[in-house]
This record gives sequence, structure tokens and C-alpha cells, in this order.
Amino acid sequence: MPSLAVVGSQWGDEGKGKIVDYLAEEAQVVARFQGGNNAGHSVKVGEELFKLHHLPSGILRKGKLAVIGNGVVIDPGVLISEIDGLESRGVSVANLRISDRAHVIMPYHKLLDGAEERLRKGAKVGTTGRGIGPAYADKAARLGIRMMDIVDDGLLREKLGFLVPLKQRYLEMCGDATKLDGAAMLKEYSAHGTRLGPFVTDTGAIVRDALKKRKNVLFEGAQGTMLDIDHGTYPYVTSSATVAGNAASGSGVPPSAIDDVFGVVKAYTTRVGEGPFPTELLDDIGKTIADKGGEFGTTTGRSRRCGWLDLMVTKHAHALSGFTGLAMTKIDVLGGFDELKICTHYRLDGKKVAHFPADLRVLQKCEPVYKRFDGWEDLEGAALDRVLKRGFSALPENMRRYVRFVEKEMGVPVTMLGLGRRRHEILDLRKRKWKNK
Ligand code: GDP
Ligand code: IMO
Ligand code: MG
Repeated sequence: MPSLAVVGSQWGDEGKGKIVDYLAEEAQVVARFQGGNNAGHSVKVGEELFKLHHLPSGILRKGKLAVIGNGVVIDPGVLISEIDGLESRGVSVANLRISDRAHVIMPYHKLLDGAEERLRKGAKVGTTGRGIGPAYADKAARLGIRMMDIVDDGLLREKLGFLVPLKQRYLEMCGDATKLDGAAMLKEYSAHGTRLGPFVTDTGAIVRDALKKRKNVLFEGAQGTMLDIDHGTYPYVTSSATVAGNAASGSGVPPSAIDDVFGVVKAYTTRVGEGPFPTELLDDIGKTIADKGGEFGTTTGRSRRCGWLDLMVTKHAHALSGFTGLAMTKIDVLGGFDELKICTHYRLDGKKVAHFPADLRVLQKCEPVYKRFDGWEDLEGAALDRVLKRGFSALPENMRRYVRFVEKEMGVPVTMLGLGRRRHEILDLRKRKWKNK
């Protein structure tokens, strides 16, 4: 490794959890650096399925330090349920560390998430409703409550003293008549603080120390580049920076400490919630991909919109995060189609579009230009086992063509190739010789 950031290169749900779970075997520390419980990372270990929202995927590997960094927003009640759920399944969370600087999602954030969405009328973002946007907004407005505040109920009492009346007024303005109960909130969140207190610490210092000792550190991204607050399809984005640069700031380490960045690229594209999606397939092909890929949200259970792989999107992601490797997931889902397509670029008024447009009105007018590929048979059973044993050269020729085309266009090698849901159904191509030609 020794330090590697894993980030989503599309609209989230690329399979980051599975990639991090695989790589975590070699790491000593796994740190989440942004997002909150809007994230849903599914990891299949044997026949057991784990759905992680707050906890880094490294928690499933024994003995790894699992860090929730300062850039994350935490719903303490949800985190406690997640911890209890894992412990009841025999997974220890003794190695969990939570940043004292991480911000807390409060009950009024969840109410406001819903109220603001309702007020947007036709321009809903389609949020997960977890209070993420309002919590990050309060952080930026210096009205946030941090994990250290709930551990010390004196600090919490002081902050709630002015925040509850303020939020009450804002809720009323947003048309939500819920009466906030400051005393109940204080009691509930102090109890959460007592429960989580033993895990709360200066995680930045811990991760920096691990890096200094040349331990392998994995930074686990949530969401994806097109949901980035600055670089995504604003306003149809989440409220944090999802690009690799934030792995440093969101976990309290210098950018120079990050050696490698893997961009997770689903072999096709999906999106949950509202917003533009140029290569979306509204036909039977889109439906087949959704069914085969089990494309339902890990967090909200909503159907994911599906479309062809879009290199305008993944190139934008690479330009921002500087991938040193691509983890291509779910290529198995594309088996059994006669033909496949990849969007190589967009055309506008007869001209090739150079960069991903900021203006969604411009994006709407862009026409995706596709290259077509011959399909391949489904890779299952003995054929899959053979590939997992023999490696890249044993893959169907047309699948190799598809992968090589993406590598060439992106100028980045595919270092991992996901061939199924389970932990071992992945080709580790980090040692494969690759020439950029
Ligand atoms: P994340 O949010 O980026 O971690 O992705 P999700 O967990 O929300 O969604 C990815 C889904 O695809 C999960 O259900 C994974 O179990 C599954 N998955 C990950 N990699 C692969 C793969 O290579 N093949 C298949 N068939 N499923 C995969
Ligand atoms: P993972 O980590 C896919 C989407 C929501 C909505 C927008 C804003 O599993 O890849 P928010 O609740 O964040 O304010 O919603 O972002 N979204 C995700 N889509 N995967 C995610 O996380 C997402 N987290 C948020 O659907 O469109
Ligand atoms: Mg997900």
C-alpha cells in the first residue's frame, strides 16, 4: 500500500465497501473521512451480508483499527444500533475510534432535511432524509454540535440552550409544526455520549501516528465524485467533498501522506435520487441491468437508475482525484448481453465537449457519444472459478477488450476487477503488467 484512498468515481454505490473490505486485509487502519449514514456499503462475507452506514468496512476484519474521522457527520443513535447489530453477529468493535471533532446529526437536522425537500417542490434533491445537508450546513455556519460536546453534557447543555429555540423558529418558517423538546434532546444525546464516549478521541493524531510508523492506512470514501458538493451535478449532490483530496482533510492528515488513490468504477452507471444522468437507460436494458445487479439502495431501498458506463464522468473523477488505479466492479452483471456501450464523450452543437459542464442546462443539451462492444457469456460456476484461479488472461476476450478500452481511455490501469458479490469474487490485478498504449 502503504496509504491508499478508495473513492467513488460516479454517483455512489460503485462497490467501495467491497473493495475496502478486500484491501483491508493488508491494512492496519481503515478510516472513513466524509459523509454520514447516507452511505450504505454492502459487504458479503461468505453467505453473510453486512450493510454498513457509519462504520468503515474495515470493522469486519479482526484487529484493524476502524476510524470515523473528523469529516464525517454522525447520527449517534444510528451508530449505536449499528454497533449493537454487529456485536450481536459476533463482530467486535473494540478497535473503533471516533473523532472528537466529527459533527453530530441532531433530530432537527432530520426534520429540516424533510421540510426543505418539501419546499423545493419540483426541484427535490431526493436526499436520503438522514439530515446530512442540514448537519453540514450547521457545521459551516458554526452552529454545529461535535462529538466532544455530547461526551461532555455541560457543553451540550450550553449549545442546546441557544440552538433549540433557533432551530424551532427555522422549523416553523419551513412549515414544520414539530415542537422541539430541548430537555429530552439533552437527555437522549447525553446518554449517547456516555455510550460512545470510550471511543471518542483525537483520531487525526492516531492516523498520523500510524502513517509515521509506515503502517498501511486505507481511507474509505462514501458517495461518489458526481455527488461532490463542489464538483458534482450541483445542486443534485450530497453536502460533503467526496474527492480524494478530502481523505486528507477529513481524517486529519497531510495530502502528501496519501500514496495511492483507487477510483471505484462500476462497469456501468447507477444513480439514486434526482438529477441529471446523461447515459441513463429507460428501456428494458436498464431494467435488466437493475435486476441482474440488484440495484436497490443499501440505505433507503430505492431503485437505482441504471445506464451505460460514462467516461465523461469517470474522467472528471480522475481529473479531480488523480487515480493511480481503477477498481472496476460488477462487470459480471454485464454478462449475457449481445452488445454493450460505453459513452466516450459528449457532443454539443456538433462539437466535442472538453470538460464536464457545471451548468445543468448545458449538460441537458449534451448528447452522449457511444462506442459499441460485443458482449460475452455470463461468467458463473466452474468458468468463474477458473478465471479466479488463472487471472486476467482467462477472462472472455470481449470482457478483456471492454476493460482494456477503459484503461486506455482513462490512462489508468484496472487494479481490481469485481466479478461477483462475495469477498473472493475479485481479481487482484495490482501486479499485472500494464502499458498505457
Ligand atoms: P458502495 O456504497 O460503493 O459500497 O456500494 P453498495 O454496497 O451500495 O452497492 C454495491 C452493491 O454491489 C453491493 O450490493 C455489493 O455487494 C455489490 N457488489 C460489489 N462488487 C460487486 C461485483 O463485482 N459484482 C457484483 N455482482 N456485485 C458486487
Ligand atoms: P454510498 O456511500 C448513492 C445521494 C442521495 C441524493 C443525494 C443527496 O453508499 O455510495 P443526502 O442524503 O446525501 O443529502 O442526499 O445524494 N446519495 C447517495 N447515492 N450512494 C450514496 O452513498 C449516497 N449518499 C447520498 O440519493 O441523491
Ligand atoms: Mg452504497
